Amino acid sequence: MKFSKRTHTCGELRESNIGKSVVLNGWVDTRRDLGGVIFIDLRDRYGITQIVFEPHYNKDTHELASHLRSEYVISVEGKVRKRPPETDNPKLPTGHIDVMVDKLIILNKAETPPFQIADNVDVHEDIRLKYRYLDLRRSNMQKNLLLRHNMYQSVRKYFDEQNFVEVETPILMKSTPEGARDFLVPSRVHKGKFYALPQSPQTYKQLLMVSGFDRYFQIVKCFRDEDLRADRQPEFTQIDIEMSFVDTEDVFEIVEGLMKKLLKEVKDYDLEIPIPRLSFNEAMEKYGSDKPDLRFGLEMVTLNDVVKDAEFRVFKEAVENNGYVTGLLAKGCGDYTRNQLDVLTDFVKKLGAGGLIWMRVKEDGLDAPVAKFFTDEEKQNIINTMNAEAGDLLFILAGPKLKTLSQMGSLRLEMAKRLDLFPKEEVWKLLWVTDFPLFEWDDETQRYYAMHHPFTSPNLDDVDKLESSPGEVRARAYDLVLNGNEIAGGSIRIHNADLQAAMFRALGISDEEANQKFGFLMGAFKYGAPPHGGIAFGFDRLVMLLANEHSIREVMAFPKTASATSPMDDCPSPVNEAQLKELHIKLR
Ligand code: AMO
Repeated sequence: MKFSKRTHTCGELRESNIGKSVVLNGWVDTRRDLGGVIFIDLRDRYGITQIVFEPHYNKDTHELASHLRSEYVISVEGKVRKRPPETDNPKLPTGHIDVMVDKLIILNKAETPPFQIADNVDVHEDIRLKYRYLDLRRSNMQKNLLLRHNMYQSVRKYFDEQNFVEVETPILMKSTPEGARDFLVPSRVHKGKFYALPQSPQTYKQLLMVSGFDRYFQIVKCFRDEDLRADRQPEFTQIDIEMSFVDTEDVFEIVEGLMKKLLKEVKDYDLEIPIPRLSFNEAMEKYGSDKPDLRFGLEMVTLNDVVKDAEFRVFKEAVENNGYVTGLLAKGCGDYTRNQLDVLTDFVKKLGAGGLIWMRVKEDGLDAPVAKFFTDEEKQNIINTMNAEAGDLLFILAGPKLKTLSQMGSLRLEMAKRLDLFPKEEVWKLLWVTDFPLFEWDDETQRYYAMHHPFTSPNLDDVDKLESSPGEVRARAYDLVLNGNEIAGGSIRIHNADLQAAMFRALGISDEEANQKFGFLMGAFKYGAPPHGGIAFGFDRLVMLLANEHSIREVMAFPKTASATSPMDDCPSPVNEAQLKELHIKLR
């Protein structure tokens, strides 16, 4: 069909265009019939322009316009005029003008959409995802994808200016499970063999360092078959970074430069660098999390020293067993009712705590069911250490270290909600968390796992503990946290085959298994591997936060649902017998 191509977009016309003949193309957003005159908001991704059909201006066109419905695609030719005062809309950039239409071409009709194309309409996410192409017409989604686009451009420009090389790495690779489950792809040519989709380009970027590409980056899709959450998708995007001849400080400098640029360019915010740092241990002790939200204080206080001699068995046992007794001060909450306290007790019990100890602070000391187990001096010590005053409420948890601290960390966030401590305005609290433990003990399988991945270098001061006390070895690993979200993680790597072998031994990975899984990397390290390290950003999370969204699905064009499906193209879906046969697969 022949049609007049637009002279302007729907976001472009202003009072300076009054009197001009223009052509606009777009979608019918809303229509109103007022006393025989038809007003239509015409929409494209640049904005909305009001177009007007009047019977005495052009009778045939007006008649044709009476058939227009929501989401029809049209082309109109007409004259820009000043809007009559009663329809003037100062909220729209195009709100002072409209276009009197002379000629209308219907480029395509549309069925009634399953939901209104407007922001802030309450539509179930499954329906939004089934009709994602319509959902993406909404201005908020357009804004989010545009922000994402701008961030890609800033990132690429920054790394190019810093002499980094962008290299694509394979999507079909060897299965080397790093933490999550791999997505597998059966090979047709090689019966019974599989490719895996990369959980990250970790091994490739290290190989690129061996090849001499001393500054690498890539904006890259990663795939992990893990349980989904608001900030997790089975396929997601990383800004992946690796550098040679570097130490932690060099990686931090590059990342801080990137964050400064991004926040300036997309938020016009001046980030102060260097970004503050906390060790994993400090973060756990003060905030009960390895990704603390520093937009508010509400710090936890370790009470081990204060209560170690108390009669109270729960505290005593925790201290004796190298556990933790940790307290949280709820300012001014001394009047919480029993019911409120029960709700909070249930909250921590659901997280696995045995119970929640609470104490009301009164003028004359502590009022609590457990108060009788403490001497007056001990009670006063608790009050002083917690910096509490009459009218406050204290929460205390005791038990194994990391479990107890992280339960209190969750209570800290819950109390921040209840006390309305989350700032309403935009605040960007960045934090490096450093000195993670190298290993994590798993009760179920009774063995250590690499907390980050098996190529992470131990702190060189702790190498002699690799075999004797692996739980105490610190890693040269770091995470970057933004407003309580882990947005990036990385480490300085092992570049020496002997140390790598010691690491595999500590993980209980046999030489044979190590060779089978990672032989190619260890082989490469025999040919001159430079010291190297890097980091990877969860790009979707970063965009989500800068877009003030609560789910990464809001900043991805075509995400999966929480159960990893796509209602739009109905995947995953069965395949036919012939396809399976070709792949040598038989379904049970
Ligand atoms: P890591 O596994 O910590 O490190 O991943 C880096 C960052 O990616 C984001 N992320 C995710 N985002 C969305 N959905 C997911 N399922 C998901 N999983 C992780 C997080 C995380 O901080 N190769 C190493 C990096 C390195 O050592 O250089 C790695 O992948 O924001």
